Amino acid sequence: MAIEIKEAIASEELRSIAELAEKIWHECYSEILSAQQIDYMVEKFQSYQAMVSQIEKQNYRYYAVYDDGEICGYIGAKPESDDRYFLSKLYLKQDKRGRGIARLMMNSVFTEARNAGKKRVYLTVNKYNNHSINVYKRIGFEVIDSVVTDIGGGYVMDDYVMEYKL
Ligand SMILES: CC(C)(COP(=O)(O)OP(=O)(O)OC[C@H]1O[C@@H](n2cnc3c(N)ncnc32)[C@H](O)[C@@H]1OP(=O)(O)O)[C@@H](O)C(=O)NCCC(=O)NCCS
Repeated sequence: MAIEIKEAIASEELRSIAELAEKIWHECYSEILSAQQIDYMVEKFQSYQAMVSQIEKQNYRYYAVYDDGEICGYIGAKPESDDRYFLSKLYLKQDKRGRGIARLMMNSVFTEARNAGKKRVYLTVNKYNNHSINVYKRIGFEVIDSVVTDIGGGYVMDDYVMEYKL
């Protein structure tokens, strides 16, 4: 296992993330969200066009995770205008989980956040996404709030807000 985490800038790198995202989101959210809501969210947040717009207009950065040169996960994040860094996306293919790759991904997020001069990293996670919540707690995140966000199309996201102090 040789893991490499690299910022995705070229359009083909972002297109590979979009393709991977569609697979992972359908697989990991199928027990907690309807297929229609997953399709809606993938299109709105994780399509190639959506990511290009987030990068150009909202200061997002995407990172692809490679195992022996093959894409197996991705990260999306952005600095806020205050002392926080927003970890928006952290996804790994199912067959790559449980091997410590999430730690490497988190460490790279913490390095980016520190380099940007930030003091805290925060994320939102679906309240029923128990595995991810446990992983985040284990890494040192704490639940600080809960939010229900209207994402349009008649859908809401029911999330915890978790924070890690750098
Ligand atoms: C979230 C995700 C990236 C985590 O990756 P992972 O490979 O499953 O995580 P790991 O197995 O490497 O676990 C990371 C740490 O959490 C610990 N952990 C895992 N499950 C745990 C549990 N139930 N209780 C306590 N700790 C746990 C691991 O032991 C490890 O700690 P260590 O490094 O000290 O040994 C991955 O599960 C994923 O992509 N899930 C689907 C997508 C998703 O839901 N993303 C989050 C959206 S907000």
